[in-house]
Amino acid sequence: MDHKRKLMMCLVLAVICSSGLGEERTADVVKSIDALIGSCVVLPCTFSYPGSYLPASRLRGIWHRKDKHNEIFYYEDSTKVMDSFKGRTKLLGFLGQKNCTLEIDEVKDHDNGPFCFRIELVQKDTNQETKEKFSFVEECAEVIMRQVPPKPELFQANTAVQGKPYAVTCSVRYTCPSHVPVFTWSRGSEDDVILIQKPIVSGIWETQSIMVFTPEENDDHTEITCSVTFNGGQKSDRSIQLNVKRTANTYHLILPVAVAIGTAVIFGIICIAMMKKYKNRIAELQSREGSMFNRLSRMSGR
Ligand SMILES: *[C@@H]1O[C@H](CO)[C@@H](O)[C@H](O)[C@H]1NC(C)=O
Repeated sequence: MDHKRKLMMCLVLAVICSSGLGEERTADVVKSIDALIGSCVVLPCTFSYPGSYLPASRLRGIWHRKDKHNEIFYYEDSTKVMDSFKGRTKLLGFLGQKNCTLEIDEVKDHDNGPFCFRIELVQKDTNQETKEKFSFVEECAEVIMRQVPPKPELFQANTAVQGKPYAVTCSVRYTCPSHVPVFTWSRGSEDDVILIQKPIVSGIWETQSIMVFTPEENDDHTEITCSVTFNGGQKSDRSIQLNVKRTANTYHLILPVAVAIGTAVIFGIICIAMMKKYKNRIAELQSREGSMFNRLSRMSGR
C-alpha cells in the first residue's frame, strides 16, 4: 500500500515537472558565427517565457558582454551602450514576437564578445513601475572575426557547346543578410544574370549568381571571372577556363553545296539557252528548206 502511494507521488511529480518544463524561460541564440571585418553580422535569436505573449512595451532586451552586465552592446536607451558600439547595433527582431535578433554594423577586429542576450520584464505596479528581472540562463554567441572574405565558388554546366546557351554559377556565403554581396562578371551583362538567395543554416546565407551566355568559337580557352564585393567594400574573386566544344562548321558544308547548286543552275540555263538557239536554228533551216521545196515545186509545176 505504501509502495503504491510512493509510485503515485512520483507519477504526479513527473507530470507536474514535465508540464512545467514546456514553459521554461529560454533563449535560443546562434552559438558561433563568422563575421567579416567591415561588413555587418546578424546574430539570430529567439526567446520564450511562460504565459501568453507580452506587449513589447513590457519587454526590455539587452545584449551585453558575457559575465559583464555593464558592458552593453545593445539597449533601447542608447546612452547605456558602450561607446565603441554606439550607433552600430540594432535589434532586427521584434521583442513582442519573441525575436531578439541583433545586427552589428561595421564589424571591427576588436568586437569580441561573447554576445549575450538577456530580457527584462517591466512589471507595472499600480503606483510605480518596478522591474522584475527575468534572467534567462545567459545565452551567448561567439563571433569569429574574419579579416578576408571567402572566395566565391564557381560551377559550370557539363560542356560548353559553341552557339548553345551555357550557364556558369558563382556562389558565396555570408552572415550579413541586410547587405547582400554584389556580383560582377568579366563578360555578359546584368540582363544575363539570375540571382538566387537562400538561408543555409541559422545566420548563414548564400547567394548564387547564374550567368547565362552563348559561347562562340573564339571563347574557347578564355577565362571567365566572378567577383564579389561584400558589405564594407572587401572583394574576392574566382576564375575558370572555358572549354568550348565546336559544332561541325556549317560554312564548310554550305560553300561547296552552294557552288555545286550554282554551277548546276548556270549549266541548266546555258543548256536551255542552247537548246532554244538550236531549236530556232532548226526551225529556220526547216522553214528555209520548206521554202526552197515550195519554190522548186512551183518551178516544176510551171
Ligand atoms: C527574427 O527576426 C529576423 C529579422 O527580422 C528574421 O529574419 C527572422 O526570421 C526572425 N526569426 C523568427 C524565428 O521569426
